[in-house]
Amino acid sequence: MAVNRTIHANEYGLPLNATQWLETHHASKASERQQMIRDLQIKKGSFLVDAGCGPGLWTPLLAEVVGAEGHILGIDISTESLVLARQRSNFSWYNSFVQYKKASLDRLPLDYGVADIIFSANVSQYLPEPVSVFAAMGPYLKDGGRLVIKDIDFGTLRFHNIDTALQARVFQARERWEQERVHLGYAFEDSWVGSKLASYLHAAGYTNIQERTYTITRKYPLPQSYIHYIQGIADWFICEGAPHLSTDDVQQWWNCFFSEASVLQREDFVCEETEFVVTGEWHQPSDNVLQEVQIATISQ
Ligand SMILES: C[S@@+](CC[C@H](N)C(=O)[O-])C[C@H]1O[C@@H](n2cnc3c(N)ncnc32)[C@H](O)[C@@H]1O
Repeated sequence: MAVNRTIHANEYGLPLNATQWLETHHASKASERQQMIRDLQIKKGSFLVDAGCGPGLWTPLLAEVVGAEGHILGIDISTESLVLARQRSNFSWYNSFVQYKKASLDRLPLDYGVADIIFSANVSQYLPEPVSVFAAMGPYLKDGGRLVIKDIDFGTLRFHNIDTALQARVFQARERWEQERVHLGYAFEDSWVGSKLASYLHAAGYTNIQERTYTITRKYPLPQSYIHYIQGIADWFICEGAPHLSTDDVQQWWNCFFSEASVLQREDFVCEETEFVVTGEWHQPSDNVLQEVQIATISQ
């Protein structure tokens, strides 16, 4: 049984964070990720914060658009990830305009009102209170600056050559387990977050919210990076003992991805998933609103 074999949590206990897995995830979606960054139309010279930068895999894509006249600040709560990000950047062409610092999303190491863009990929799924974190990030943006949140949504994942009833049972079991596991001491995760992001940004006070979706389709024959990525996902669906699945379903699912008869090796293999990139503009509250908030706070 492959449970907990492919994926390892990082020092913060966050699964799907093992660096090697993140690298294969990045490599296997390289063209869509390039397109996501192009579609943001980020201006040269921008000051961009990569919030939850991990090992810095997005930095080259972001560096290309802000250019040497811009600046990138990568932040993360994981020291381990920041060390890897710095190693990657050290001898790169973008090293002179990139910095990495340890910080949490809601307490960025910069003054209010200075960032043009705050970009955050594959992090919102780990936020137990995404609305309050997004609201706390807003003031770091210039007036009219943009928050960009990119994330997955496993409600969109489909394998064309796997029994649909088995897929439904596996996905529903994981979704149910995600709601329960946090009460048992596991770190929070919402792998169905992508389609909820637009409403979260709205609730956090952003305006002009735009949602772009990217459907990622891969067919046989598959590159090794994609096989590793999919095996990581498949393993993760049945990790932590898969309490809402029968032993039979766990075995069948495992066989689909890890046995000699793996669906990944078949000519009819097709997998689709949709990722979400949501942007919102931040406008500093006007002096009047600010005064009203201050008066209300004082009189409480
Ligand atoms: C799945 S990884 C994504 C890394 C990178 N953005 C990427 O897409 O390759 C999630 C990252 O978010 C970081 N993270 C999670 N919660 C955070 C928080 N509240 N503040 C800062 N970083 C956080 C984790 O340490 C981890 O490096």
